[in-house]
Amino acid sequence: MSKVATIEIDGKKYEFPVVEGTENEQGIDIKKLRAEAGVITLDRGYKNTGSCESAITFLNGEEGILRYRGYSIESLAEKADFLEVAYLLIFGELPTKTQLDKFYADIKEESAVDEEMKKILDGFPKSAHPMGVLSSLTSALIAFNPSSVNVDSEEEMYKAIVKILGKFPVLAAWTLRKKNSLPLNYGDDSLGYVENLHKMMFEKPGKSYKVDKEVIDALDKLLILHADHEQNCSTSTVRMVGSSHAGLFASISAGISALWGPLHGGANQAVIEMLERIKEDGGDTKKFMAKAKDKEDPFRLMGFGHRVYKNFDPRAKIIKKSADEVLGQLGVDDPVLDIAKGLEKEALEDQYFVDRKLYPNVDFYSGIIYRALGIPVEMFTVMFALGRLPGWIAQWREMRLMKEPIGRPRQIYTGANLREFKEVEKR
Ligand code: ACO
Repeated sequence: MSKVATIEIDGKKYEFPVVEGTENEQGIDIKKLRAEAGVITLDRGYKNTGSCESAITFLNGEEGILRYRGYSIESLAEKADFLEVAYLLIFGELPTKTQLDKFYADIKEESAVDEEMKKILDGFPKSAHPMGVLSSLTSALIAFNPSSVNVDSEEEMYKAIVKILGKFPVLAAWTLRKKNSLPLNYGDDSLGYVENLHKMMFEKPGKSYKVDKEVIDALDKLLILHADHEQNCSTSTVRMVGSSHAGLFASISAGISALWGPLHGGANQAVIEMLERIKEDGGDTKKFMAKAKDKEDPFRLMGFGHRVYKNFDPRAKIIKKSADEVLGQLGVDDPVLDIAKGLEKEALEDQYFVDRKLYPNVDFYSGIIYRALGIPVEMFTVMFALGRLPGWIAQWREMRLMKEPIGRPRQIYTGANLREFKEVEKR
């Protein structure tokens, strides 16, 4: 028999069905709560609210489990490449070799960006943050690709998906090239997706492009680890914007803005800035631990804590190991890696952090790897966006295929009651 939840308000009982997921997660379906009982639920920050049913990513924060379409993040990070993972997230199954080759060929076919877009990029000052530029350029893509996607046509849906996967790395690379005063370029069809991205970012005029395999492997792994994370702030934004039937590019552009904030994707930049600050201050990690615990001090240990993981972040484990390997392989000796390890050790033994279940998240170590790969700090969140793109696409596609209604939360009003309007002279 299916489960039922009973809510009692003012002595009257109301019953609601309990929905169960494939991993036995349970949610009370309160669709009829307001109509039947005249109340709504209040849940600031949606800490206990499921906004959808989704078959893409499974996350168990208590046990530190993360799976894309049923495959563990550990196995994907070890065995798959980023484009395979993108296909898996978006279409639900790992691609055959033929499907993967076609997917990549179609992406390459759609990677050209309208020349006029360069004028838009030209209008930004060099000092602009790459995330602001990237979100604006992604939004501007709509002007050059105006037809809205007929989501009932699998072909149109596919076309929109390969278009954004093709053009987005070009835009991301251009934001960096603009900052570095380098000529805008395109990729090389003979290279893989991630190597192509790297080439577009770092190729120098007049010099032949060469990169170590270790660099591409590390980048590929980082992108996989960031590829989806169920209903986080930016993904919920993508689904919310898309739920009004705004197009894919508009929804992704909104997702980039949400990701920019230091409490979300911007944390990887904030972590490196924090570690640098600690280093310059003499490296006294205890002093900064005390600041993080002081409620009068706004300082937080960036890269620590997670809304969902309350045991450990499985991505952080993979990344910590990867940071050691990559820095070793590239022969980079970065003192902030030692500061990071010191902070982690202290925090894991500190009662404040233990009580609040605060552990290093994916971004505590990712910035150290990005830096070793020669990626400038301001580009860290752009790298996150590049990784998260397949997840946003998959979630947008699922939301549209499931014909989700427009997202429109309610509120409990706490403002003034009805008041008489007073003319300006009488106020
Ligand atoms: N340093 C010090 N204290 C912290 C930290 C931190 N990094 N994170 C949480 N706390 C404390 C809070 O002050 C609060 O303490 P209190 O109960 O005494 O008031 C308690 O832990 C709970 O914190 P909340 O902010 O309520 O937890 P929430 O789940 O809302 O926030 C978040 C999660 C935003 C990630 C938070 O831990 C944080 O700000 N971390 C630093 C930023 C960061 O690393 N963000 C990246 C997230 S991962 C990602 O986006 C990929």
